[in-house]
Amino acid sequence: MRFAACSATLALCWLPVALAYSHHYGSSAFKTEDIIVRDVAIIGGGSSGTHAAISLKDKGKSIVVVEKKARLGGHTETYTDPSTGIPVDYGVVFFHNNTIVKNYFNRFEVPLVNSSNGDLRSGDFDFRTGNPVNITRPSPEALGAAFVKYIAFLSQYPALDSGLFLSTPVPDDLLLPFGEFVAKYGIGDVVQTFFTTNQGIGDILTLPVIEVMRVNGLSLTLQGASNSLVTTARHNTSELYGKAQNELLSADSLLLSSEVKSSSRTATGVELVVKTPSGKKLIRAKKLLITIPPRLEFLHPFHLDHRERAVFTKLINFGYYTSIIKDTGIPDDVMVWNYAQDTPYNLPQLPGIYLIGPNGIPGMKNVYYSSQRSNATFPIPDSNVKADIVTTIKRLQAANPGQFNKTDPEFVVYSSHAPFYLGASPEDTKKGIYAEMYALQGLRNTYWSGAAWRAQDSSMLWKFNEEVVLPQVLAGL
Ligand SMILES: Cc1cc2nc3c(=O)[nH]c(=O)nc-3n(C[C@H](O)[C@H](O)[C@H](O)COP(=O)(O)OP(=O)(O)OC[C@H]3O[C@@H](n4cnc5c(N)ncnc54)[C@H](O)[C@@H]3O)c2cc1C
Ligand SMILES: *[C@@H]1O[C@H](CO)[C@@H](O)[C@H](O)[C@H]1NC(C)=O
Ligand SMILES: *[C@@H]1O[C@H](CO)[C@@H](O)[C@H](O)[C@H]1NC(C)=O
Ligand SMILES: *[C@@H]1O[C@H](CO)[C@@H](O)[C@H](O)[C@H]1NC(C)=O
Ligand SMILES: *[C@@H]1O[C@H](CO)[C@@H](O)[C@H](O)[C@H]1NC(C)=O
Ligand SMILES: *[C@@H]1O[C@H](CO)[C@@H](O)[C@H](O)[C@H]1NC(C)=O
Ligand SMILES: *[C@@H]1O[C@H](CO)[C@@H](O)[C@H](O)[C@H]1NC(C)=O
Repeated sequence: MRFAACSATLALCWLPVALAYSHHYGSSAFKTEDIIVRDVAIIGGGSSGTHAAISLKDKGKSIVVVEKKARLGGHTETYTDPSTGIPVDYGVVFFHNNTIVKNYFNRFEVPLVNSSNGDLRSGDFDFRTGNPVNITRPSPEALGAAFVKYIAFLSQYPALDSGLFLSTPVPDDLLLPFGEFVAKYGIGDVVQTFFTTNQGIGDILTLPVIEVMRVNGLSLTLQGASNSLVTTARHNTSELYGKAQNELLSADSLLLSSEVKSSSRTATGVELVVKTPSGKKLIRAKKLLITIPPRLEFLHPFHLDHRERAVFTKLINFGYYTSIIKDTGIPDDVMVWNYAQDTPYNLPQLPGIYLIGPNGIPGMKNVYYSSQRSNATFPIPDSNVKADIVTTIKRLQAANPGQFNKTDPEFVVYSSHAPFYLGASPEDTKKGIYAEMYALQGLRNTYWSGAAWRAQDSSMLWKFNEEVVLPQVLAGL
């Protein structure tokens, strides 16, 4: 009977749901000490969520961050080698040398330095066979000339350096597969550089230009072309997040190892039931800022409406996987690149490893791996990624006995960053998905930030927070 009523009219389906929630929200269900009242509740304490929290706190607003993991930082991950004490950032490393970045790191007294790395011995191999390849790299002059042309192209779209502010109709050039675009403008010399600096995006040549431009936009290209990118002087980006974490915890503004279980979002405010290590809490906030990847399966507790659902259903993503491996049999000072003899721009076939590179710890290497673009939130099972990495290293060893030793490589750390780089198909982009997405800001007191809304680039996310999202959150608070 109840089932029949539900299918007859959708509205009735909500009735039992609504009743269930009203039970949670009745003040009698929560003791006073379990009710947290704040201006803004922030979901996700990675790059964009932590920055938003600190920025709002500095502007005198009360906040609470709900983070699923036991630490802040998200894609920022640092491994400290117990025997040498050497820290290695095997997640986020590079930042733009700009005022927002400098002020943010200064606030936590984390010094920055020029990120240019020294010369390494490197070799190019086809990881499908393990055999060495002779690849063609553009000369510095040719690369510089291609950058100049690309920057001239980007300069026509200054708004895209602040966000996905596409005009209607979306310019055709921005929808082209990147491979066709570089051929049209004669800038193929940028391909290898973008492929290696903008990882986790699969086959860059088939990706629409707008998705490449999100990261390889005007700011990053100018920074890269002038060697201006910075990194932390102590090679420990987690220091920023460790300090932010201590500050937010002592201000009662952070719930770690916590997740929202249900919610109500209305024009008057937001209520969230949160499962925490010390029991269920009720957050009452004027506004909500969600910074986690907007995939439907993560957003159930927020009971999406049809407009939100229509946008997020269409997003697609990648899997990006990082690890530190010991005993690879590859000498400490050698960087091994995956390339192919027989492909355009010598780009390697993915899914696969980009590179096996030195990380400063004797006997250890960083390994980076990407899937192709996928509708699946988790495109490749972790066990397959790990098995492929080990098989590939052994293939390199077998094919190059004089250069690499035969060993049994072991994972020191492994991290899945899936779902990575949420974005849209060219068809949906043409139909205006990004305008629809940005129009969701503020509905039912809910605001959005994070890489899906801008780029996998922390510096640009902090700028996006400051210039686009937080002014809307602050309005009327
Ligand atoms: C290996 C690697 C290297 C990179 N290198 C760089 C670099 O050098 N420079 C750069 O600028 N960018 C780099 N990036 C891009 C990086 O992803 C962005 O800079 C930035 O971290 C994205 O921030 P975010 O807030 O969108 O996501 P995240 O930083 O991932 O934050 C999301 C947070 O939400 C939490 N969360 C998820 N689900 C829930 C839930 N249901 N409830 C509560 N919390 C939840 C997660 O645990 C996480 O802490 C790199 C990324 C990777 C993976
Ligand atoms: C950042 O840029 C400024 C010039 O704008 C320069 O003085 C400074 O040295 C740069 N910082 C680093 C760490 O490279
Ligand atoms: C690469 O170049 C070297 C030296 O010119 C040559 O011996 C080798 O056969 C080449 N390898 C391939 C795969 O072309
Ligand atoms: C960073 O270092 C590189 C290499 O030493 C140098 O070419 C570049 O000019 C430096 N950049 C800045 C901003 O100082
Ligand atoms: C890096 O920073 C983290 C977080 O603050 C800290 O726990 C860790 O000890 C630091 N590592 C090193 C080697 O300083
Ligand atoms: C390779 O094996 C030799 C001989 O055992 C050893 O001296 C060398 O350190 C090993 N190198 C690597 C990178 O494993
Ligand atoms: C995602 O699914 C749609 C519909 O099934 C399909 O047309 C599209 O090719 C898929 N995209 C990717 C990247 O797999």
